[in-house]
Amino acid sequence: MLYGLLLILSVAGCGQDEAVSAALGDAERGKEAVARYGCIACHAIPGALNQGSNVGPPLHKIAQRAYLGGVIPNTPEQMVRWLRNPAAIDPRSAMPNLGLSEAEAKDIAAYLYTLK
Ligand code: HEC
Repeated sequence: MLYGLLLILSVAGCGQDEAVSAALGDAERGKEAVARYGCIACHAIPGALNQGSNVGPPLHKIAQRAYLGGVIPNTPEQMVRWLRNPAAIDPRSAMPNLGLSEAEAKDIAAYLYTLK
């Protein structure tokens, strides 16, 4: 999945491999953070957590989604921005600012990109 993303990014020429790896954290820590922050209160999440609600969009195959919140291209950098402060990207978004640190958002982004 991640390799597919890297391939898409390098084909699209909108991100170098270095930028991608710098933009992502540790998926295992990200999974723990997703559980801790209660993302499943609003999102269906597959895989190990495999639960959730339908308040927000399901996060299955999120690596293959073209846009985040329907407004910004889905790149690792934009994913981190989105996770840290959705309203800064779309003031009308219903997703709240959960107060994630940059490091937590990078870990969560790495985890989200593993979802099938
Ligand atoms: C109170 C409900 C709520 C919580 C809690 C929440 N989200 Fe969201 N999230 C939303 C909504 C609603 C959207 C759709 C926003 C939009 O399109 O403007 C969204 C959008 C997203 C998107 C973009 C999805 C897409 O297809 O565009 C991602 C990724 C995401 N959330 C991840 C998370 C993660 C990770 C957490 C936990 C750290 C989280 N969300 C917590 C409600 C929530």
